Amino acid sequence: MDKLVIDGGTRVRGRVRISGSKNATLPIMAACLLTGKECVLHQVPDLDDVKVMENVLAGLGASVKREASTLIIDPGSVNAWEIPEHTSRKMRASNLVMGALLGKFGQAKVSYPGGCAIGQRPMDIHLGGLRQLGYKVEECYGYIEGYFSEAVDSDITLDFPSVGATENLMMAAVISSRNTVIRNAAREPEIVDLQNFLNKMGARIRGAGLGVIRIEGVPELNGVEHEVIPDRIEAGTFMIMAAASRGDIIVENVVFEHLGAITSKVRETGAEVIAYNGGSLRILGNRKLGSADIKTMPYPGFPTDAQPQMMAFLSGVEGTSVMVETIFENRYMHVNELRRMGADIKVEGRVAILKGKSRLRGTTVEATDLRAGAALIVAGVSGSGETQIENAFHIDRGYEKIEEKLHSLGVKAFRIRD
Ligand code: UD1
Repeated sequence: MDKLVIDGGTRVRGRVRISGSKNATLPIMAACLLTGKECVLHQVPDLDDVKVMENVLAGLGASVKREASTLIIDPGSVNAWEIPEHTSRKMRASNLVMGALLGKFGQAKVSYPGGCAIGQRPMDIHLGGLRQLGYKVEECYGYIEGYFSEAVDSDITLDFPSVGATENLMMAAVISSRNTVIRNAAREPEIVDLQNFLNKMGARIRGAGLGVIRIEGVPELNGVEHEVIPDRIEAGTFMIMAAASRGDIIVENVVFEHLGAITSKVRETGAEVIAYNGGSLRILGNRKLGSADIKTMPYPGFPTDAQPQMMAFLSGVEGTSVMVETIFENRYMHVNELRRMGADIKVEGRVAILKGKSRLRGTTVEATDLRAGAALIVAGVSGSGETQIENAFHIDRGYEKIEEKLHSLGVKAFRIRD
């Protein structure tokens, strides 16, 4: 397994350009299955998770070609409706093809996703919603199998605004002779990007981003060209790194409104965030910084995907911070690794209490999942000495060209390949 080695103690300086959003790309790739025509996607990050989705689509019979950051997907010869277990287990998001396959072909079979490091992540909200849309869904021998049963107008209220369930239901409902309302829908910017993509294809969807999504079914969808939104979590990671290392950087290619909660908390610590026209931000951390309390919430609240990075940051500023993780029940895997770097963190259930100190120090640590890996990068860059992050493959799932981007900010980082 590769190791990422970071030479710490650098105040980051320079410019970094944010890639396209991983979490917007994955459902949009799945949504390409809803047409028989070619779709061209721009600003697609070159990441391991995207490669898994490329393989899922290719395994179903689609042609998938990459030219730099453009992905050309031709689903014209899709001839299968089953995602084998070995692919499903690699990435939970491969389940997003379920909604698209049901919407287009009226049948789908996907392997049940296993538990994962950050929590159990069940599928009950997805499946309950699909049943209310008129699909028959059965769970047997580790697989979920669904097929079209009857067209009904549906008014669905989700138990929780699940991102994946909202996306799956949008895709399952869009080609239809019926109307659908999804209430308590997730409001993340990635849901709005999926709506925009589907509407370009000819869908009639409104309300994404507002919590109630209304879908007027259409008979078919066309192929389109679309540019994926910038990755707000990658942007947030660099913003937090800039503040944590007392640096001064420009983060380019961002949508400022998507970064509201992260900006508020970074500012609360005393760091400065300045938004410029044209989609860039300056972050200045070169002043006295203090603690902040964080509670993760569905969008527009503080994102769970930036909680580990923020914990790494707050562990290295003086003062006590309280963090509450409300989205995933086990998203504190990074705590033990941060402790190895000198952090003083107590965890009681979903609450973590951090007694910050002036600086963490580098050692050998392990990335246990994607954002835990990002947290260790923040800790490694801002801490003193060398940090060796084992299992760097987790980081490659969600951060494009990470060494290159760190170098552009003046950080000495290299990879030891296994
Ligand atoms: C998506 C993001 C992930 C992010 C998460 C929360 C993608 C590819 N991934 O994941 O990066 O951390 O949103 O912002 O976009 N739940 C159920 N039953 C269900 C579905 C979800 O109990 O049927 C629970 C989950 O276990 C979790 C919570 O709801 O505790 C949030 O999950 P969800 O919003 O569905 O996250 P994902 O779509 O899996």
